[in-house]
Amino acid sequence: MRVSIIGGGGLVGSCTGFALQAGGVVGEINLIDVNGDLCRGQALDLLHGAPLAADQRIRATGYEAIPETDLVCITAGLRRKPDESRLDLINRNVELFLKILDDVIAAGLRPDAVVVVVSNPVDVLTYLATKRTGLPPSQVIGLGTMLDSSRFRGLIAQDLGLPPTQVTATILGEHGDSMVPLWSAAQAAGLPLEKFPGWSASKAEELFQRTKGSGAEVIKLKGGAGFAVGMSIREVIHAVALDSRRILPVSSLVSGPYGMQEVCISVPTVVGSGGVRAQLELELWPKEVSALQQSARVLRETIDLVLTSNPNAAKAAVGRGASGAGQASGGGRGGLPSPSANGQAVRVTMGSGGSAVGGRPRVTISGQSGGGRGGY
Ligand code: LAC
Repeated sequence: MRVSIIGGGGLVGSCTGFALQAGGVVGEINLIDVNGDLCRGQALDLLHGAPLAADQRIRATGYEAIPETDLVCITAGLRRKPDESRLDLINRNVELFLKILDDVIAAGLRPDAVVVVVSNPVDVLTYLATKRTGLPPSQVIGLGTMLDSSRFRGLIAQDLGLPPTQVTATILGEHGDSMVPLWSAAQAAGLPLEKFPGWSASKAEELFQRTKGSGAEVIKLKGGAGFAVGMSIREVIHAVALDSRRILPVSSLVSGPYGMQEVCISVPTVVGSGGVRAQLELELWPKEVSALQQSARVLRETIDLVLTSNPNAAKAAVGRGASGAGQASGGGRGGLPSPSANGQAVRVTMGSGGSAVGGRPRVTISGQSGGGRGGY
């Protein structure tokens, strides 16, 4: 698979390039950045290690690589100041992001390409990318709470002295202040986390708060996240490249799960060839569901704020040759083909006839139908 990283000279973009190199799965890594020297330097540094990693094509390039790109990863953007919330970034980053999107589209974004959005506020920008590119929504993925979930697992593991890869804990919702920890599903080695020595409700709250503040903590200490975000992006890109259909907490346009509509937000998402294969609606604790719905409301309010205050964003939300904003499915816009096979609606219900009776789990799977500065 051929991957192009926009913002490839920056901390996030270059760490993504390195993570992809170390992974050795994708065939081509293109770094694109307005800071040409920095971008060439990062590509050269990666190239120097290539003989010890994998037989991949690695280069610094321009938007001319886009027509041959299977997956475009957008990491370019302005970074948060330590005391700034991700949503504060919006006014500064929307314009820049829309310009990048337009450059990508003008360069010849393939109708079957997958776009992975990393720039912040990621859920809002993923929404704009879904609309603006005219791609089926299943082909546009925001990194969402992938990084938060990984941070959460790492911090829990460190605190309880557990092996990090055996700790599983998930955060859903906004990649931001309203993110939602799923305590109902936290485990280590398949055993409930609450059974492990040292675990308590106050410890849980402390670790979640530290996770939520981790982005700001890293910005203060080293200027911004790099390694962990690179690894998180790699997890998503490898799932697409290998069609592994891993269930990942990533952001994409939701139209139904947990009653949420017309917003990009992280829910458990099956990621494989072509992007989003399905979004899962698993039974959660009621307070987790209401927190998730609240997170969707926060994001929708922000989208509305952007659309009413920014004419370019409002235009972008209409999409390319679209009939109008607010359409939940992405088929047939801008002369692009209708949603591919992976975009066909799937609805699978397990358990007691679709309802959660007698404590049995209910699972619903809804398939979806459907320039500026250097990288940060
Ligand atoms: C963070 C940025 C990458 O959370 O959103 O560090």
